[in-house]
Amino acid sequence: MNYKASFPQTRLRRLRYNGVVRNMVNETSVSVDNLIMPLFVCPGTNVNNPIKSMPGNSQLSVDNLVKECHEIYSLGVKSVLLFGIPEHKDDDGSVACEHNGIVQQAIRAIKKELPEMFIVADVCNCEYTVHGHCGPIVDGDVDNDLTLVILAKQSVSLAQAGADMIAPSDMMDGRISAIRKALDANGFLKIPIMSYAAKYASGFYGPFRDAADSAPKFGNRASYQMNPANSDEAMREIALDIEEGADIVMVKPAMSYLDIIYRTKQEFRMPVAAYNVSGEFSMVKAAAANDWIDETRVMMEIITSIKRAGADIIITYFAKDIAKFLRDKK
Ligand code: PBG
Repeated sequence: MNYKASFPQTRLRRLRYNGVVRNMVNETSVSVDNLIMPLFVCPGTNVNNPIKSMPGNSQLSVDNLVKECHEIYSLGVKSVLLFGIPEHKDDDGSVACEHNGIVQQAIRAIKKELPEMFIVADVCNCEYTVHGHCGPIVDGDVDNDLTLVILAKQSVSLAQAGADMIAPSDMMDGRISAIRKALDANGFLKIPIMSYAAKYASGFYGPFRDAADSAPKFGNRASYQMNPANSDEAMREIALDIEEGADIVMVKPAMSYLDIIYRTKQEFRMPVAAYNVSGEFSMVKAAAANDWIDETRVMMEIITSIKRAGADIIITYFAKDIAKFLRDKK
């Protein structure tokens, strides 16, 4: 900025007195087109297990999940991100690759009833391993290269079921290239990869781990997810993922990482996604339940800030609430 503005010629309040003018100069708008709603699918029929720490969200069996997708779509949110709670788990997470796995079943059911819904499939093993880590354990830690084999298989299986986009959230080195190669070798050249590129080892995932039953049974994820103190390292993670073929790069969580979202957009000029994670959602719900904050106002302020920072796509448990707010505002 190289202009000089000074009082009293310049009064910034002039453009704030009138609501019409305020709207004319509004710089950032959130649209339903930007939103992806995460959903949790579990075995059974007519199951709806409310997730206590995430008010309004439930583990849903496939039949109820399809109903929920109809409602989400009718509100204008045209994309969901699926997480599975499987019938059984194993040591290496290969349950996630089964043709009739829980997410595979869910994708087929949604595509049958509501083919327009754009389905993003999360790819990771922590929901599928007995120990809750994101891949097979060798010498007390997740083995990177063994995990790549399973992630690639899982991705192909989800694409075969009908997933429209693959979103690996495991943070192994080299997964984007492994997944891209496997997808291409199986004819899925048109399926994009949205990489959880800068995913931090965050305390904000607490409620999700209840929802997806995916908390690590020992240790933590610090040997694969990023240190919250690091920003340069995030740029290296993102650069690598882009080189390996990522189509969209994600920063996760969002609220405490707005600087990372901003920097990612500035440095790479790529489509950027941000994940407004479970803990960020639940804190707002809890404070609002106590009447400490105005839920809708704070929700919109948070989502707008994520967009303003540079995110094109926002994955959020608020997606339905935002859609309702935008609809009723008209
Ligand atoms: C799986 C995964 C997690 C989340 C998304 N994918 C949990 C984790 O890494 O422990 C968290 C999402 C949220 O908190 O809303 N790796």
